This record gives sequence, structure tokens and C-alpha cells, in this order.
Amino acid sequence: MQDMGKSIDIIIGGKVVGRVVGGSRVGEVAALLEGEQEVFVVYDRQAVWVAEAVGRAVAVRGSLALTVSEAAKSMDTVLSICRWLLESGASRKALVVAIGGGITTDMAGFAASIYKRGIRYANLPTTLLAQVDAAVGGKTGVNFDAYKNMLGVIVQPVFTFLCAEVLRTLPRRDFLSGAAELVKTFLIEDHDGHYARSVRLLAARDVPGCFPLAPGAPSSPSADTAERVPSTDSDQHVDEKEWQELVFAAAAVKAGVVGRDPFERGERRKLNLGHTFAHAIEHEARLRGDDITHGEAVAMGINLAARLSDGLGLAQGLAGRLMRDFAAAGLPVACPYPLETLAGAMGRDKKAEGGRVHFVLLRGVGDVVIIDLTVEEALRTLQGGAADKRL
Ligand code: GLY
Repeated sequence: MQDMGKSIDIIIGGKVVGRVVGGSRVGEVAALLEGEQEVFVVYDRQAVWVAEAVGRAVAVRGSLALTVSEAAKSMDTVLSICRWLLESGASRKALVVAIGGGITTDMAGFAASIYKRGIRYANLPTTLLAQVDAAVGGKTGVNFDAYKNMLGVIVQPVFTFLCAEVLRTLPRRDFLSGAAELVKTFLIEDHDGHYARSVRLLAARDVPGCFPLAPGAPSSPSADTAERVPSTDSDQHVDEKEWQELVFAAAAVKAGVVGRDPFERGERRKLNLGHTFAHAIEHEARLRGDDITHGEAVAMGINLAARLSDGLGLAQGLAGRLMRDFAAAGLPVACPYPLETLAGAMGRDKKAEGGRVHFVLLRGVGDVVIIDLTVEEALRTLQGGAADKRL
């Protein structure tokens, strides 16, 4: 058995249903797959080198490459994965290993969860965003008609392998998008000063090879279509260990929340900090043809949530602090759209109930509270403090 990094169990109802494991190299996944007879790999073709490395480390019965996009996150793709499993002879003992970002892990996990009434799946996320959020916690699914993630199930992966090596290939902008979710997690639960550590490292740009550009240089494009290969420049990885610790710590916070509330009846809603605003910002961006990543929208959304918290008297001066921290960390702060344009999309939030939205608000770093408000109440409070009604 190779020396794996840290591991944390996901415990639901007193039973271990999965785990999150940290590691350095892709090949270490072999230790997690020991004894598996039928491993089927579903991977994002941009992460082909990761799939190949898995193929060298373990006997794989079959591999399926996906061309991944929001538009292709559909039932059709899930059915094509199911058809491929069937044609490849996958039995109920098969294990699907999903390799890619959140779209890939969502679709492969969904396909596994319905194939033959459910077979097991595991995740090897290749983006920071998926490592700290999407690939942990068992949410799977696809978009349906105009609605994001409208069809799906919550089924826990048997493991999520957080491999440091795969992040070396991540473009800077994608890295920052994931960093927003990481920082969000520590705003929800902050042990050992993880929030401040993340901000400090981001501000120093002391991050692994996924930060190939000099500080202040323009971001690299997020939608790169070229296959990515790992960087070998060891100078770029000076703080990889520290990042690995932070990534694992964020995933561990999420694993704890999910264990206590797997189906999002209460506490898990906290993980949506900033997301009610973020989804509305992303919706508006799509309408206008603007390029805003999920993480960028989340960073803007968290700042709006902090302003709303200040406005409701839950916190004092928090919005100013977060704005300074986020700006130093290279995360976007200001939403480019007027408040009013976000109202419709916020009201249609699929988590809204009886005209009220569960707003996740902040009393301080590591201290969140869920308050149900109408969109009008929230916007009125925000506008009270916004001189020109722009966010
Ligand atoms: N992305 C939030 C959750 O998994 O609950």
C-alpha cells in the first residue's frame, strides 16, 4: 500500500459511506482501487493525461472520453455513459471513476447512480473547484431545459481523491475560480486560521504551477481547449504542500457538513454562501454574453452577502474587510450589474420556498447564519447602503 496523504470519512447516520483522501501523485489512486475487478473510467478529454496515468497504475476495463461543457451537461450525455457501460459489460460490481471537473463528476456520478439501479462511483477531480466543492458531498446531476442541475440525485462517491499533481496544469483563472469556493468554505467554518492563511497565500501568489503568470498580469483564458499536461518546473511548486493542506481542510469542512445534513434540509444550505447572488449574476452574464466564471460570481456574491449582513446589523464592517481581503487575493469584488437586474433570477432560485429565499449571511469569519428573506427585503437593505445602486 502506498503512502497516501490524509483521509477523512464521510459518515452518514453513523455509517461510513465514503471518504476524502489527499495525495500527491495520480498513481497513488492504485491504493484506493486495490481489489476492484471492474474499473470503468469516465474522463474529461482535457484531462487525458490523468486518465492515462490512472490506466498505467491500475487495470481499467474501459475508458470513455467526454467533451465537457455546460451545454453538454445533459441527460443525453448521461444516457450515453449508461449505454457505454452496458455495451462494455459493466456488472453491478463495477466502479465508475470520474476524472475531470464538476461537470464530469456530476454526470459520471449520476450515470453510475442510475445504471442497473445504482453502481458505485469515485471521483478524481482535476480542478480546484471540484476538489473543494463539486466532487465532495454526492450531488450529481445534469441541466434540464433552461434549468441548471435540475435533474439528479445525491449519492456519495466511495472516495474522492484530492491529488495535488493535477492542479499544476490548471490555468490561473480556473485556479482562482476554485479559490473562491475554498475561501467561502473557511468563511463558513474557520479552524486554525485557514481563512487568513488562504488569503495570505493568494495575495502572495505563492501557489503551485497553476499560477504561471506574474502578479498583475492578465488572466489566462479559462476555456482552454488544449489538452493540459503537468508542469515539471519545481520552482513553481514551492507552496504546494501548504495548498494541499488547505484544499484538504476545505474538503474536510464540507465532508463534515454533508455527513450531518446529506440532503440539504438545514445545515448544508450554509455551503450556498454567496450562491443566491452568484446564480443571478451568472444568469445575467449569460443573457449579456459576458464571461464570468462560477467562482468569480461566488466571490461577488459573498461580498453582497457580507453587505447584506452588515445592512441587517448581523455584522459590522465585514463587507469592507472581505472586500480588502478578496481584492488582495485577486478575487473579484464588485458585481458589474445593477441590483434590480438580479431580482428576477434570485426569486427563481430553486432553493426558494414560499416566496422567501434562504439567504446565508455572515456574523463574522467562520460564523454564518441562514435567514429567510424575500428578494425585495434583501434588495431594499442593500440599496439602503449603495450610493448609486450598483453593486
Ligand atoms: N455545492 C454545495 C453543496 O454541495 O451542497
